[in-house]
Amino acid sequence: MFRLFRKKRPKCAALVPAAGSAQRMNGVNKLFLPLCGVPVIVRTLTSLQLAHRVDEIIVAVQEKDMEEVSRLCKEYSLTKCRKVITGGVTREASVMRAAMETSRNTDLLAVHDGARPLVTPDLIDRAIEAAARYGAVAPALPLKDTVKRVKEGGEVERTLKRETLRAVQTPQVFDADLLKASLHAAFESGAELTDDCSAVERLGKVVFLIDGEEENLKITTPTDVLFAEAVLRKRMGLT
Ligand code: C5P
Repeated sequence: MFRLFRKKRPKCAALVPAAGSAQRMNGVNKLFLPLCGVPVIVRTLTSLQLAHRVDEIIVAVQEKDMEEVSRLCKEYSLTKCRKVITGGVTREASVMRAAMETSRNTDLLAVHDGARPLVTPDLIDRAIEAAARYGAVAPALPLKDTVKRVKEGGEVERTLKRETLRAVQTPQVFDADLLKASLHAAFESGAELTDDCSAVERLGKVVFLIDGEEENLKITTPTDVLFAEAVLRKRMGLT
């Protein structure tokens, strides 16, 4: 189905949208927040650096953070970080800008939130391997909570069937041409997206889900920082 099928090892660029405004973090810049002593963005980039199937990394940040992120890439020897660029006003705009900066022979694009520092290199490699076969892949987990659709005032409209729902994470990995075309189409139509799969789904393409990781949380609120540090302490054998 995809041309990558015939290739031995597709070239993969990781795109890291990290240009958000941190509204739900009480204005704290979560990029540089230390998690057990190491900044969030460094932990995210280190996992991508250690993933065997990632060839290069493009990071999209706010203009004011460019210098510091570039400096951290040097300090932590993140040699796969080829470019640090300015992001856009929306997440998708940041991803699109990063996609345009990848090397010409790139086959796959792996989009990974800058705010997901606990992702393992193993999950990244698994997602890339699956995308080389299927063209569009995302890690996901079944939901623990029951989810309800609500009206504007908070009134419950209906309860969704939990068995049919999945919480989708990143890295989301795509055939490079497919993702670029999908983002472009979404952009043109003004569609509001919260992940990259939705851009691909809009074009009627099938997205395949693989098992995500419970610890691959997105740092969104101050409570997530507490959870993330607990996970890291466990990984370091301190608890
Ligand atoms: O807002 P949300 O939590 O979905 O953001 C997910 C990721 O997208 C974060 O890492 C954030 O920094 C990034 N982002 C971006 N450009 C924006 C908005 C969000 O790169 N304009």
